[in-house]
This record gives sequence, structure tokens and C-alpha cells, in this order.
Amino acid sequence: MVGVISDAVLVRMVPWHAMAKFTRRIYPWWLRWASDRKASSMNMAGKTVLITGSTDGVGRYVALKLAAAGARVLIHGRDTQRAQTLADEIKRASGREPMFYQADLSSLAEVREFAQLVLDDQERLDVFVSNAGIGSQNEGPARQTSKDGYELRFAVNYLAGFLLAHLLLPRLKASAPARIVNVASVGQHPIDFDDVMITKNYSGGRAYAQSKLSQIMFTIDLAAELEGTGVTVNALHPATYMNTTMVRASGVTPISTVEQGGDAILRLIQGEDVAGQSGLFFDGKRKARAHAQAYDAEARQRLRTLSFALTGLRAS
Ligand SMILES: NC(=O)c1ccc[n+]([C@@H]2O[C@H](COP(=O)([O-])OP(=O)(O)OC[C@H]3O[C@@H](n4cnc5c(N)ncnc54)[C@H](OP(=O)(O)O)[C@@H]3O)[C@@H](O)[C@H]2O)c1
Repeated sequence: MVGVISDAVLVRMVPWHAMAKFTRRIYPWWLRWASDRKASSMNMAGKTVLITGSTDGVGRYVALKLAAAGARVLIHGRDTQRAQTLADEIKRASGREPMFYQADLSSLAEVREFAQLVLDDQERLDVFVSNAGIGSQNEGPARQTSKDGYELRFAVNYLAGFLLAHLLLPRLKASAPARIVNVASVGQHPIDFDDVMITKNYSGGRAYAQSKLSQIMFTIDLAAELEGTGVTVNALHPATYMNTTMVRASGVTPISTVEQGGDAILRLIQGEDVAGQSGLFFDGKRKARAHAQAYDAEARQRLRTLSFALTGLRAS
């Protein structure tokens, strides 16, 4: 007679020592498999990766690592001297000269030119890392504005990346599977939609944190828009107070290394364990919850409408 043996009966039938032996054999294999899967990385050889703000800090570290792994790295910054020093280092490490794009992200016209050059030069784009940014105190505590008259941190840290991502999307989609990584922060301040440009009660910390939450809100929306395209987008806080120019400028004593934050960014760029995941925020390598406003669909819609209008991409 053919019968069905339930799990409970099976457990009673199999002697416990046989089960223990089986578990002892399987468990180490499973642990190895799980940790290999966790640590395994996509082969970056020949992949084209654009990293904004790669002439300094954590972006520079990520560019060097990716170039050493065989990626075609497109570096970006404002300073030609810093870019040349990095390009020389990359050439020494990988034998290849990276392409350098110079653009001041405080000008939306320059952002547009920059995107157009990348589209003209590059047949494919596998990864776009929106990393460039200014800290809370880079050029002193006073409120500053961009070339277009917008609050400077909102413009450089958020709007420029929003515009670049949209302009580069056709190339990313054509190169799918592709990834966008938005380098944000755990420093997040809700947007006051009556005063997005922070004309009242300004502080560099608030401006920085508002721009970082905006990046995360954009990440969530863009992920929904990109569903089914093979392009994923995630945001992260790389590490707390890394030893970089922006942290030193704010007078804070660094508590993390550039390597720690860089490795968290590299994981989102190439980690197999996050392949296909999208619209998420990570604190280092851990999935995390952002400020509550990030999960407010109405707030995201207001930011989205405003961003399309400010960048001139769409009227609504
Ligand atoms: N450091 C931290 O502890 C920390 C923590 C959380 C998040 N983050 C985020 O990590 C990212 C990188 O920060 P970092 O600490 O590595 O900073 P960093 O060392 O100060 O480097 C910033 C980079 O952004 C570029 N940049 C700044 N303003 C620009 C502009 N107007 N136009 C074009 N490029 C511009 C700089 O280019 P130039 O060489 O031309 O100046 C530089 O390459 C930022 O998005 C930051 O918010 C950092």
C-alpha cells in the first residue's frame, strides 16, 4: 500500500543519531554556501561604471577598486589636477587610462552637458554611482545657492543626481542588467514643502540632511518606475564620519575609514546578494529604514513633481 508519511512520523522513524550525523555533514556545507553567496561579487571585467565625485574621498577609493577589478571606470569631479593624479594611479594599477568628465554639479547646464558627453562616448553603462556631494560645512556655515539659484546642497547632492540618472537611463536600460547606487546618509531631515530652499532657519546640517533624504525618496520612486527594466536602484549610508574632506571640513573627528564606506558601496555595485533588489536603503551593508517621510507616497510625489519642474525635465 502506498501511504503518505508525515514529517512527524518520519522524525519518529529516523533515529536521532542519524539525524544529528546528517545535520553535522550538511550544516558546514550550507554555511559555506550561504557565506559564499553573501560575499560573491559580479565579475566587473569590462563593465562600464560612472562614479560622480570620484576625485576625492570614498568615490576615489571605489573607482580605484573597480578599475583594479577590470571595470572601465568613468571618473568625475571638478578638479583636473586631482583627476589626473587618480587617472595615473588607475593606469598604474590596471594598465588602462580612465575617462575623466569634468563638471560642476552646481550648474544644471553643466550636468546636462556632462550627461550628453557620457551618452556620446559610451556605448554602454552598467553602473551609475551618484556619489558626489558637499557636506554640511564645506564652504562655511552660511546658506549658499547653486548657479541656478537653488539651495546649494539640494542642488548638488540631490537635483544633479536626479537629472543625471534620468538623462542616463536610456543607456542604463539598454545595458541591463544595470544598477544605480545613490550615496545618501543616515543624516536625514524631512522636507518642508513650503520652504524647500531653506530660506528660513537655515543650517548646513539641515540642508545636507534634507538633500540626503531627497535622494532616498527619489530612489524609492525610481525603483517603482524601473520595475521590469532590469535596472535596479538603491541608496545607502556608506559609513559614519569617514575620514574624508567633507568630514574634516565640518570639524568632526572621523570614526570610520574610507575602506569601510567604500566596501558598502562596492557591495551595492557588484554584490550578487543584492542583484535584483531595488528601492532599498542600506546602512552600510544592512538593510535599514529611512526617515518616515521617505515612505510617504504623497511627499514623494510632491518632491518628484518639484524636481521635474526645477530640472526642466517635465512640467509635471
Ligand atoms: N564622509 C562620510 O562620513 C559620509 C557619510 C555619509 C554619506 N557620505 C556621502 O558620501 C559621498 C562622498 O562623500 P565623501 O565623504 O567621499 O566626500 P569628499 O571627500 O568631500 O568628496 C566629495 C566629492 O564630490 C565632488 N563634488 C563636490 N561638490 C561638487 C560639485 N559642485 N560638482 C562636482 N563634484 C563635486 C568632489 O569633487 P572635487 O574634487 O571637485 O571637490 C569630490 O570628488 C557624499 O554623497 C556624502 O554625502 C559621506
